[in-house]
Amino acid sequence: MVNLSEVTFAYDQDIVIQNLTLTIDRGSFTAVIGPNGAGKSTVLKLIAGLLTPRTGTVMVSGQDVRTARLGGLIGYVPQNYGKNVCGFPATVEEVVRLGTIAGQHDRHFSQSAVNHIVNHMLELVGCQGIRKKRIGDLSGGQQQRVMVARALAGNPELLLLDEPTSGVDYEASEKIYELLGQLNQNLDVTVIMVSHDIEKATHWADKVACINRGLCFFGDSQEFNLNHIQSRHLWFYNG
Ligand SMILES: Nc1ncnc2c1ncn2[C@@H]1O[C@H](COP(=O)(O)OP(=O)(O)OP(=O)(O)O)[C@@H](O)[C@H]1O
Ligand SMILES: [Mg+2]
Repeated sequence: MVNLSEVTFAYDQDIVIQNLTLTIDRGSFTAVIGPNGAGKSTVLKLIAGLLTPRTGTVMVSGQDVRTARLGGLIGYVPQNYGKNVCGFPATVEEVVRLGTIAGQHDRHFSQSAVNHIVNHMLELVGCQGIRKKRIGDLSGGQQQRVMVARALAGNPELLLLDEPTSGVDYEASEKIYELLGQLNQNLDVTVIMVSHDIEKATHWADKVACINRGLCFFGDSQEFNLNHIQSRHLWFYNG
């Protein structure tokens, strides 16, 4: 589903990703972990086609990532979305409605179909009760949930989530993990999720990628959990 080949990326002069090669299978659920500043969000943005590598290639579903992005294959939930939306005048349901546009690249949904998707997604993330509120007026955790709903509304084949449960309370984050697990298992959505909650993330994910400028570990989450301590060493001391 995703193929990064010898990817190097720099913001200005600072190289933050060096020679990263990574293959993610269709239908898998990958947890991306690593310390602050390791380049996890940068890797997600490269896979989302929001950043362009200096060298190397990023392919999604066998095509250049920019083509895949335009085709609506990719759903993306950014980190700390709330910081960007203070004062944004749209309501929760309008934000989720915008998400349905990505799913309509090769077909057109009727108004009632769009309404149905919006209702369903709001229900999935438990935000029916706040649908008329302005997005900028929500708490950080509520905003995260709305962003998950918006990404899902596009019916993506690949879902990228950057710390989707940060700031979300225990019950709601359980729901988000469960929802991601169901989408992955039942609808075959490929999920790549950055998280600092290693225990939870590796419980739900079947693969783990530890990133610290490069790839320090990639393998089954079971294998990772067995070697948890050693793996921690690997990513902290590599790079
Ligand atoms: N827009 C930017 N311009 C310049 N440097 C940046 C930019 N975004 C990130 N960086 C730098 O790139 C490096 C990797 O950042 P990135 O956000 O990918 O880390 P991260 O692993 O997601 O960290 P965290 O766990 O804190 O979210 C950091 O050193 C950061 O300071
Ligand atoms: Mg980050």
